[in-house]
Amino acid sequence: MRKALCFMGKISRPPVKIPRLAVYLCGVPGDQLLQNLPRAEMQQGYVVVAVCPAYFKNSIMLFFVDTANLDHIREAAELGILDGVTTNPSLMAKEGITGEKEVLKHYRSICEIVGKDRDVSAEVISTDFNGMVAEGKKLAELHENIVVKVPMIREGVKAIAHFTELGIRTNCTLVFSAGQAILAAKAGASYVSPFIGRIDDTGWDGMKLIKDIFEIYGTAGFETAILAASIRNPLHIVQAAKAGADVVTCPLSAILGLFNHPLTDIGLEKFLADYKKG
Ligand code: G3P
Repeated sequence: MRKALCFMGKISRPPVKIPRLAVYLCGVPGDQLLQNLPRAEMQQGYVVVAVCPAYFKNSIMLFFVDTANLDHIREAAELGILDGVTTNPSLMAKEGITGEKEVLKHYRSICEIVGKDRDVSAEVISTDFNGMVAEGKKLAELHENIVVKVPMIREGVKAIAHFTELGIRTNCTLVFSAGQAILAAKAGASYVSPFIGRIDDTGWDGMKLIKDIFEIYGTAGFETAILAASIRNPLHIVQAAKAGADVVTCPLSAILGLFNHPLTDIGLEKFLADYKKG
């Protein structure tokens, strides 16, 4: 979705007027695009003519599970909707995984459960450039699914830029402001992780940050994916999807909460009861 807006953010004014039909020829959902075009532009008959190719390859919101619990990861994978996993040192500690050897073994297990082409974020512990680079390289070598998770600090941004040059994918974590999100994207982070729930905890609006980053990345042309993190409940998932997040990472409980609606249960009960009558 962001790619579409990114594309819209770069409205080019052609020297000649092009009929509105051209929007449909670009392959972009025309109604949506026309709704969002400034009225003045529409009256003048201008349309967007440059299509952002990335829009077509990466416009589906991804679902990650935010846990180091192997049973939860298996359960999410069995649902058939899992695209990846994020972890952090607190989540690893919660599962009692400690010591480098155990931690690396656990990451390998996670990668094997989620399967091919599904990203698994593994966080570095070091806070200095050299330490982060050494740790990140080791993590990246562990499995092709691994994305190196790096904190939003000065040394972290330096490390992300270095990893970008090496072709190692990164997730910039602990992001709480639009300015931090710009730095992460500028360094070439594959993902930026704004912590929605933790912002809400302070009485500020976490979802507003997703909207701001969405707008900024679209306007500035950054390719970094917005990974809405610190998601706590099903409503957060729905709101993040509306706000333009490319990925939501959430505890299994929040994903399962999306299923709940009493009318579904009542309706199914009635269908089954009526079937038995027949
Ligand atoms: O993805 C970040 C997440 O693990 C933090 O969540 O609930 O501890 O704020 P929370």
